[in-house]
Amino acid sequence: MRRVSSNLEETRSIGAELVGNAAAGTVLSLIGDLGAGKTEFVKGLALGLGISDPVTSPTFTVLHEYRGGRLPLFHFDFYRLRVEGELDEIGFDEYLNAGGVCAIEWGDKFANRLPPGSMKIFFSIDSRTRREIAW
Ligand SMILES: Nc1ncnc2c1ncn2[C@@H]1O[C@H](COP(=O)(O)OP(=O)(O)O)[C@@H](O)[C@H]1O
Ligand SMILES: [Mg+2]
Repeated sequence: MRRVSSNLEETRSIGAELVGNAAAGTVLSLIGDLGAGKTEFVKGLALGLGISDPVTSPTFTVLHEYRGGRLPLFHFDFYRLRVEGELDEIGFDEYLNAGGVCAIEWGDKFANRLPPGSMKIFFSIDSRTRREIAW
């Protein structure tokens, strides 16, 4: 699939739509440059799951956890991680099997740690407001 988004609301809608019938254990690896819309997309995932907490970037904390929706949402950002061992410090593998949806910004950084069935979503910047989202 390939979608074009012309503003952040559209990017959120694509996320909301995509997570609509996602099963527990879904892992989404979000791949694309800074500013490509990965975090905005995760805001859409939260909307689609019926989570009302505001979603913010977990760049500095690696993980934000959102509950209260159809499924829990575990939002990771690998951007600042240096070594794979940091994943073990946060108990990464347990989140993969915790019955939620895992959305991982920069997930390709430690691609070997993602389960075989994880879905790659590619974000690219076409212009100031135009993004291409493909999976
Ligand atoms: N079509 C679009 N979709 C998503 N974000 C957009 C779009 N057009 C402009 N933007 C802007 O691009 C930025 C995307 O930021 P963010 O989602 O944090 O990116 P990332 O997490 O990939 O670094 C935001 O400032 C947003 O307002
Ligand atoms: Mg981000």
